[in-house]
Amino acid sequence: CLGLDNSGKTTIINQLKPSNAQAQDIVPTIGFSIEKFKTSSLSFTVFDMSGQGRYRNLWEHYYKEGQAIIFVIDSADKLRMVVAKEELDTLLNHPDIKHRRIPILFFANKMDVRDALSSVKVSQLLGLEHIKDKPWHICATNALKGEGLQEGVDWLQDQIK
Ligand code: GTP
Ligand code: MG
Repeated sequence: CLGLDNSGKTTIINQLKPSNAQAQDIVPTIGFSIEKFKTSSLSFTVFDMSGQGRYRNLWEHYYKEGQAIIFVIDSADKLRMVVAKEELDTLLNHPDIKHRRIPILFFANKMDVRDALSSVKVSQLLGLEHIKDKPWHICATNALKGEGLQEGVDWLQDQIK
């Protein structure tokens, strides 16, 4: 699970967990955290990576073993949309990713924030239409309420089965 700091990665993963395993307080991730849990349909082992600049160099160490990527964007953070695009482009050009048909699920998160961009707009700004060699999907989400997450997980499940 990748994306800039403060985009909502840990909040999203927490929402996907069974309610008795959910954390109450979520703090910025330091380095990364490995989260293992089962839903009714899938067994997850998620590498919840920190999005802070100083930790982004850790991301690539886990590309090889990943079966899928969840890339989270803060739809309300217009100023850093270019930074998110740079990180995505770096990911897509990485030797461990470039030639693989690894599915990428994009969550355009924080759709509840006034002035948040639509998922269509986020998709345009990130240039997702240029991704031709990998299956990808984008959903608008509100991780605080869990809205939109299931649609994404259903898509992901279809991709990896
Ligand atoms: P790092 O671990 O630093 O990379 O950040 P992260 O991507 O894991 O973000 P995190 O889940 O810690 O959430 C950052 C902040 O955004 C928290 O205050 C969350 O409550 C808030 N947040 C997450 N999702 C949403 C959302 O959908 N809407 C709103 N309004 N706030 C959200
Ligand atoms: Mg986090």
